[in-house]
Amino acid sequence: MLGVILAGGTGSRLKPLTQVTNKHLLPIYKKPMIFYPLEFLKKIGISEVAIVTGREFAGDFANLFGNGCEYGVDFTYKVQEGALGIAQAIGLVERIARNEPILVILGDNIFMLDDKEYEEIKELLDRFSTDPKGATIFLKEVPDPQRFGVVEFDKDGNVISIEEKPEVPKSNCISTGIYLYDHTVFDKIKTLKPSRRGELEVTDLNSCYLSEGGLKCYRVKGEWIDAGTFESLHRANILAKKVEDYRI
Ligand code: G1P
Repeated sequence: MLGVILAGGTGSRLKPLTQVTNKHLLPIYKKPMIFYPLEFLKKIGISEVAIVTGREFAGDFANLFGNGCEYGVDFTYKVQEGALGIAQAIGLVERIARNEPILVILGDNIFMLDDKEYEEIKELLDRFSTDPKGATIFLKEVPDPQRFGVVEFDKDGNVISIEEKPEVPKSNCISTGIYLYDHTVFDKIKTLKPSRRGELEVTDLNSCYLSEGGLKCYRVKGEWIDAGTFESLHRANILAKKVEDYRI
């Protein structure tokens, strides 16, 4: 299965740190941020990876990773011309995906899971690969849901809506930045319209799957941080140090 790391965007919430570099190259403890989603993909057995990033810093990623042989990964790079949204970025890998399912991870999402949970996710991927239909989103409960895509449930626990950064969140359960899609994802992206901020939103894409009854959820048990703000970037550094020190 192709893994897709999205490393575009302007990183505007982290200016001036992102004035002269890409957010996903900023340090998290001992490694650039993008190493964390890359390690996640490797841990769940994905070794074919597409990195989608903006034109300005695309060369920096090629410099960092080369063809990937040092990392045991086969890399392809795709350039997103402008901050046109997560769903638009996913659309760029259509040809590389060759009609197969894809697993997308946002480059600023840091997951620190135990081995048991990586195994569980691996099994989920195996099951999906044998019958790739629909989409699976990865959920987490957070204290500040208004920053994310918020999931609403009915009384039986079924998802009934996902709203992007609502002022009044309908739950504290949010969609993290991991998405598993069947190959119909590319046709669905072509039907999306830009949001008010001019982007093709991943929440609208996931809502397409929801409306046709094809959306499943996986609840993340381990730690998760979206490192896109100063506060969360700081927390990610502390967590990464803790995990690293514990290993030693
Ligand atoms: C994006 C998605 C949002 C999701 C979040 C997870 O938001 O649009 O639905 O909850 O990633 O990290 P962004 O961080 O790009 O504002």
